[in-house]
Amino acid sequence: MDTLMLPFSPRFIVLTICSVVTALLLGLGIVDHKVFDIVLVPLLIFGALTLLGIRDLMQKSHAVLRNYPISAHLRFLLEEIRPEMRQYFFESEKDGMPFSRDTRAVVYQRAKMALDKRPFGTQEDVYREGYEWIHHSVAPKVRAQEKFRIAIGGPDCKKPYSASVFNISAMSFGALSPNAVRALNAGAKKGGFAHDTGEGGVSSYHREMGGDIIWEIGSGYFGCRNRDGSFNPEEFARVATDDQIKMVELKVSQGAKPGHGGVLPAAKVSEEISKIRGVAMGEDCISPAYHRAFSTPLEMMTFIGEMRRLSGGKPAGFKLCIGHPWEFLAICKAMLQTGIYPDFIVVDG
Ligand SMILES: Cc1cc2nc3c(=O)[nH]c(=O)nc-3n(C[C@H](O)[C@H](O)[C@H](O)COP(=O)(O)O)c2cc1C
Repeated sequence: MDTLMLPFSPRFIVLTICSVVTALLLGLGIVDHKVFDIVLVPLLIFGALTLLGIRDLMQKSHAVLRNYPISAHLRFLLEEIRPEMRQYFFESEKDGMPFSRDTRAVVYQRAKMALDKRPFGTQEDVYREGYEWIHHSVAPKVRAQEKFRIAIGGPDCKKPYSASVFNISAMSFGALSPNAVRALNAGAKKGGFAHDTGEGGVSSYHREMGGDIIWEIGSGYFGCRNRDGSFNPEEFARVATDDQIKMVELKVSQGAKPGHGGVLPAAKVSEEISKIRGVAMGEDCISPAYHRAFSTPLEMMTFIGEMRRLSGGKPAGFKLCIGHPWEFLAICKAMLQTGIYPDFIVVDG
């Protein structure tokens, strides 16, 4: 009895209705040829829906379609337009991650040189926990004239660098487009910041705008490697001694790639990228999970010392994401033991 009633259950009722209507319309059309023209369009619609329902019942990859033939397509449709619905109807000015609608609006306005300020009041909840503000003062100070720069480079550096407190974090060409790299370097030039190349090598786009560069090398030694992927000191020295490169950085680890290394998929390895990185075209470009040039903290310090020497005495540092505090302590011990001190350390979150 239950099986007989199944076509009339909410799950299958749409398919049942479509099948019955299709059969009725077909019957009508066959019995009376004069009405065939009138029922043709509805017949095609209900017939197509019935076929769709049968296909939903037969397929095995979507449980929801099998359980709710035809009607479940509505769910997929709604899922499709969900982001737009949220954005246009439900999202408030302060919603949205990582950038709220409000923040995005300011970016658009500034990009178009339109007014980005709204006078009188704020939509911020100024009483919320953690809201930060600046107090008025009856005794404002004269604006500081300092440039907020820090001298980087210990006694072993022949070419110390005066760095801004704001700089541009490592992002490789390849992960970023030529225009993005150009824009960042132009910003570095304008603001007096240093632009970190990321591990993808130094491209012509880093050089065009003339902004200061920090050259980062990772475990792939892109731009200074031999064919077998090992570090090539001569090639490193050739690039690192360029005047636009102000500091050199060894990437040991990165927060977003915990111990896995990295891959630039073959499809992204263009002729240009293969030249800059010194890798084969049409093959995945792999940053191994570990360095081949050193394997202990002591060897790492020696390597950093070498980077400084090969660059002609520029500040040499390293970047890491601290997963195990004792590993960092081992690196500190190695500094003491070797007497080789990196000039800067970049800590990734
Ligand atoms: C597109 C992109 C590419 C990146 N490439 C590198 C890289 O080549 N080398 C590196 O050390 N970090 C790289 N990073 C990580 C950033 O330098 C930075 O450490 C990370 O984004 C965390 O900082 P944030 O919280 O300010 O974003 C990259 C990040 C992004 C978003």
